[in-house]
This record gives sequence, C-alpha cells and structure tokens, in this order.
Amino acid sequence: MSTTASPFVLEARGISKRFGGLQALQNVDMQVKPGEFHAIIGPNGAGKSTFFNALTGLLKADEGEIHFDGRKVSGLAPHQLTRLGMGRTFQITRVFHGMTVLENVQVALSAHARQTWNGWTAAGGQHVARGLELLERVGLAAQAGRTARTLAHGDKKRLELAIALASQPKLLLLDEPTAGMAAKERLASIQLVHQVAQQLGVSCVFTEHDMAVVFAVASRITVLHQGKVLAVGQPQEVRASALVQQVYLGEPVAAGQAGAGH
Ligand SMILES: Nc1ncnc2c1ncn2[C@@H]1O[C@H](COP(=O)(O)OP(=O)(O)O)[C@@H](O)[C@H]1O
Ligand SMILES: [Mg+2]
Repeated sequence: MSTTASPFVLEARGISKRFGGLQALQNVDMQVKPGEFHAIIGPNGAGKSTFFNALTGLLKADEGEIHFDGRKVSGLAPHQLTRLGMGRTFQITRVFHGMTVLENVQVALSAHARQTWNGWTAAGGQHVARGLELLERVGLAAQAGRTARTLAHGDKKRLELAIALASQPKLLLLDEPTAGMAAKERLASIQLVHQVAQQLGVSCVFTEHDMAVVFAVASRITVLHQGKVLAVGQPQEVRASALVQQVYLGEPVAAGQAGAGH
C-alpha cells in the first residue's frame, strides 16, 4: 500500500466498469487537489453515477485504483471510507425523520465519536454545542428543535449537509445534490455547500446536470462521455471545448444555461 505524499486528496486511475455487454466506464482518471470543487458532468448515461459509486465504494470497479488522502482505498466499503474522511451526502444520508434537527446532528456526531446515542438519559446532552455550531453553519440553527419530518425540502438538504460535516470529512462527495429542486433553489443550495466547504477547507466532488449550478461553483470539471473522459479542465476551458459542445447536442455550454445533458 502506497502512503507516499500525493498532491491530490483524491485520485482515480484507470477505472473501468462493465455491466454485461455495456462498457459503462473505460479507463477513467480523475485528480482532485485539496480545496477543489470538482464537477463531473456529461450527458445522461455518460457514466457519472457509476464513476461516483466506484469512488464512494458502493460499486466495485473491474479495473483501476482509487487513492484517497495518500492511501490506496480501492475495495474499501463505504463506511470505511467515511471513517477515513470521505463524506457523502444527498441520496444516501439517513435523516431520522422522527427526531429533531439537532438530535439528527447529535446522532451523527456520536456515531463519528463511536459512542452510542442515548437521547433518553442525561447523556442526551452530548454534542449539543457542536451540533448547534454545525446547524449555525448551514443556516438551520433556528430550526434546531423542529422535527426533521416537518422541514422543507431545501432545509432537509441543509440538515444532510450538517450530518455529513459531523464526520469531519476532508472530501465531500455529492451525486446530483440539486436533484428535485426548483431552479432558483438549486443555486442557493450549491452555493451554501461551496461556502461551507471553503470555510472548512473541505474539497468536493459532485455530479450535476444543471450547467448553471456547475459553472457557479466548480473550480475544475471532468466531462464524461460514453464512459470515457472527454475533457478535463477549468470551467472556461471546458466551456470553450468544441468536443464538449458537440456532446451536448451542439448547444453551447454557457454559464446560466440550465439543464444541458439531462
Ligand atoms: N447496475 C447497472 N446495471 C446495468 N447497467 C447499468 C447499471 N448502472 C448503470 N448502467 C448503465 O451504465 C451507463 C451509465 O450509467 P450512469 O452511470 O447511471 O450514467 P449517468 O449517471 O451519467 O447518467 C448507462 O448506460 C446505464 O444504463
Ligand atoms: Mg446519474
């Protein structure tokens, strides 16, 4: 196992994955430097979710290696990766709907500290201060005492972010974090994640089909097309790429343009 210093917080090398007769990923590389906000884009069926699931340990790649925070992590289970500092949110995070907003964050903090949550004893007071601090960060402090079930969709996403942050991740991985949101809500939501990640020095990898969201926050973009990396670079380079414009059906990939590739 390699533990040599690497300039990357996350590095995928030669990831391939086949589903029956379909080559969903073919020799995909990706490098994420500390502090990056890295978007994975591409038309529907390009392999974004498959790649994402390989990164987070939900899916075993046929070939390739994944290195995280200086060590090889391919083959590790999702919970092991979480413990190493790879935080996932959205579509996966468990919110306990019968608990209050604060209790949800306390549970996550307890889990991270490997304690057993017992909300019905004096120990229920544990992690209150830290929990409130996290809720403050995501703009939910005023809702701390509310039952999670009663939160609006956008606020539930904020809670999921607070829960993910409870494990003190070095890297956040978000698969379509703005799915199911109204266009207006999407930008505010990703900007909150971006702001909090910057404040805490957390890197981020996210898949996204809304180009307005991508260009609002991404510092670097990997474009997948038919399971391969079509382009990688800074937003302005990717936007200017003729190849990228072609795969988006000839539409210019312009800032402010939503919904391309979906
Ligand atoms: N579990 C699976 N079994 C078979 N085919 C799959 C599976 N998951 C994804 N695929 C196929 O792999 C390709 C890539 O899918 P996916 O990674 O979900 O793309 P994206 O997220 O970019 O839309 C698609 O053709 C999809 O139908
Ligand atoms: Mg997908």
